[in-house]
Amino acid sequence: MSSPHSTSAPYNPLTGHLGWESFPLHDPVILSAFIGTMLAGIAVLALITKYRLWGTLWRDWFTSIDHKKIGIMYMVLGLVMLLRGFSDALMMRAQQAIAFGDNMGYLPPHHYDQVFTAHGVIMIFFVAMPLVTGLMNYLVPLQIGTRDVAFPFLNNFSFWMTTSGAVLVMLSLFVGEFAKTGWLAYPPLSGIDYSPDVGVDYYIWALQIAGVGTLLSGVNLIVTIIKMRAPGMTLMRMPVFTWTALCTNVLIVVTFPVLTAVLALLAWTATRGPTSSRTTSAATR
Ligand code: HEM
Repeated sequence: MSSPHSTSAPYNPLTGHLGWESFPLHDPVILSAFIGTMLAGIAVLALITKYRLWGTLWRDWFTSIDHKKIGIMYMVLGLVMLLRGFSDALMMRAQQAIAFGDNMGYLPPHHYDQVFTAHGVIMIFFVAMPLVTGLMNYLVPLQIGTRDVAFPFLNNFSFWMTTSGAVLVMLSLFVGEFAKTGWLAYPPLSGIDYSPDVGVDYYIWALQIAGVGTLLSGVNLIVTIIKMRAPGMTLMRMPVFTWTALCTNVLIVVTFPVLTAVLALLAWTATRGPTSSRTTSAATR
């Protein structure tokens, strides 16, 4: 998470406003955390290679179209992200416990705001939703007596869209910064004048990509429940959990296109698009 006065690079169609200065080379704390995380990642990759698990992971899990395995992968994603959301929560509570009177605590405001926003976004979109979607994927086909969901390949695709969104949020820890707007990112606070840095871009694209995954998964589960119930299972004989899943996914299919549209507006209107200059902050206008 970069300094309060960090500016972003000129717009580039491939990397947006990210540039070399987005890497934390100037900040020893973030740089050490970055290097530590990279080393831990390399150690995990080395262990997977040593125990020859790549084939199993790729064939049996990453590319699996089995609804139970995809359900488990969603829940693992939710639990991993819970660790991050929980770390953010601990940081916030520690700051609130320390900062009173003249003591400003250990987190500067621009950093607290990023932790605050990341906590809300992660807990809602990358913990609560994957845990619930995972449970629905695992249980619904079993409860209605079908072998799999209606579109198994789409199911796998949806999972990886959600995971890509989570990866983007995690990446913002080290490259650039995350939004300082709160988890709902209301304009004008999320507009170019008040958020000239790359944080809101991370927010937009993480939610846009994960949101498409959630929408497709919603369509998939609705079609599964409506069209693929075992003979004799009328709607009124359906287990309550499957009813809950149906209602939840109808709500997702109704609301997520709105989220997609407003995120696209936030991304492409003149306030955040290629024509605007991120290096000009509100103070200099
Ligand atoms: C593990 C225990 C948790 C702790 C200690 C915790 C702590 C906090 C704190 C300190 C704040 C900021 C409040 C403020 O400064 O006004 C916050 C905000 C928030 N938390 Fe948690 N939280 C926890 C778990 C969760 C969970 C499980 C969820 C959702 C599934 C969640 C969702 C949120 C949201 C949406 C916000 C508002 C963020 C925003 O306005 O941008 N939290 N939490």
